[in-house]
Amino acid sequence: MKASWIALGCAAVLAGPSVAAEVDYPTGYRAWTHVKSMVLEPGHPLYESFGGLHHIYANAKAMRGYRGGSFPDGSVIVFDLLDVERGGNALSEGARKVVGVMQRDRRRFKDTGGWGFEGFARGDPKQRVVGDQAPSACFACHAEQAATSQYVFSTWRE
Ligand code: HEC
Repeated sequence: MKASWIALGCAAVLAGPSVAAEVDYPTGYRAWTHVKSMVLEPGHPLYESFGGLHHIYANAKAMRGYRGGSFPDGSVIVFDLLDVERGGNALSEGARKVVGVMQRDRRRFKDTGGWGFEGFARGDPKQRVVGDQAPSACFACHAEQAATSQYVFSTWRE
């Protein structure tokens, strides 16, 4: 009896708003599936925040969602944003600006569509740039895709 009360108390604390769920650093994402790449140039409406060259990577669970199923808990998608260097009539990758992450966990991130959002400055696991700003900084926009593609914008091509 006592033990079950303690368990209930813990569950309440975990579910409460005071405990912010943290997104995990996506260790090893460069070996995951490359979904697509895109360059945002000056003049694009999102240039201030996301200007540069980005690559999107998905882990094996997230690939189930990209292939038309649902994104199961444990799905992780990475938005790897790099500077663009111009020269010799070519665009090349520059320094890493930020590693953006979406992590699917319907329980931990229930207030933001079951996805946790985070950004790691220059890809440094210790430099979190989003934290509790995720609802306004990330989710508000991704929510546009709620009904059509489970909050995910990018699509898979063979
Ligand atoms: C104003 C709209 C907007 C905001 C704000 C926004 N995103 Fe996105 N996000 C997009 C679009 C559009 C794409 C698709 C880019 C592409 O197709 O290459 C995207 C793609 C992504 C992806 C790859 C999965 C997907 O949905 O395609 C991740 C991960 C991601 N964003 C994380 C974040 C994080 C973290 C934040 C907050 C710091 C954020 N986003 C804020 C519009 C937004």
